[in-house]
Amino acid sequence: MKLRTKYALVTGSSSGLGLEIAQYLLEEDYIVFGASRSGTEIDHGNFIDLDCDVTKDTSVQSMFDEIGKETYGLNLIVNNAGIFEMGSVVNMSSEVFNAHLETNVLGPFHVLKYGHDFLIENITHIIHLSSIAGKRGFENVSAYCASKFALNGLIESCREEWKSLGVRFSTLSPGAIDTPIWENISDDFERSKMLDPDDFIHVFEMVVKSPPNMQFSDINFLHKSGVLG
Ligand SMILES: NC(=O)c1ccc[n+]([C@@H]2O[C@H](COP(=O)([O-])OP(=O)(O)OC[C@H]3O[C@@H](n4cnc5c(N)ncnc54)[C@H](OP(=O)(O)O)[C@@H]3O)[C@@H](O)[C@H]2O)c1
Repeated sequence: MKLRTKYALVTGSSSGLGLEIAQYLLEEDYIVFGASRSGTEIDHGNFIDLDCDVTKDTSVQSMFDEIGKETYGLNLIVNNAGIFEMGSVVNMSSEVFNAHLETNVLGPFHVLKYGHDFLIENITHIIHLSSIAGKRGFENVSAYCASKFALNGLIESCREEWKSLGVRFSTLSPGAIDTPIWENISDDFERSKMLDPDDFIHVFEMVVKSPPNMQFSDINFLHKSGVLG
């Protein structure tokens, strides 16, 4: 099997930023593997929709088995799938708190663990979706903040472990972006004070098209009105 073109994996491709990223990469002539539980309506010859629950070890292994039928290497891995719920420490259930850790930390861990076999030395670029909530606390956002702080620790450690491979790790830490992730949040945050997905793609494109000797250890960006809340 030869590497004819550029291959990308995007987790969480069924909605929001993952969907935008997948569509952007298709326009840039990547063959895109999209992973999610609910699937994507993208109708494009270079898009391969894969059923995957990133919280499940075996589901992520099966996903990579499918990818292995198409290519031996990935030029780009976008660890994007994530969940966000709000609730006070006192009122939040252990299940919801744990779901944040399972999706936002264990999920990316599974993708890195089993994605290792698909790294192309000196080529693969691994991009993570962290958050401004991985830098500071917010009222009623403890589960999400805890998960994004932990994700940053995972990324920083893996970058050190894989240094000799010459792969790149870039982390995006945006403020609020107007995507479906906000739909189930009861607090009425002003959408006009959020970035929109096009703003996000502007930054994403800069990272993806950067010279191959560069990585972005952490890019913070947010709406000009400041932190939401
Ligand atoms: N929007 C923001 O304000 C914002 C700001 C900073 C960072 N982020 C980060 O950006 C990423 C994408 O967020 P978004 O705003 O695009 O959210 P979104 O619209 O809710 O999309 C989340 C995606 O994650 C997938 N996902 C969730 N759990 C999954 C699981 N167990 N296995 C596989 N896929 C799963 C969902 O697919 P299925 O449900 O189909 O599985 C969906 O495609 C997240 O990591 C989020 O933390 C978002």
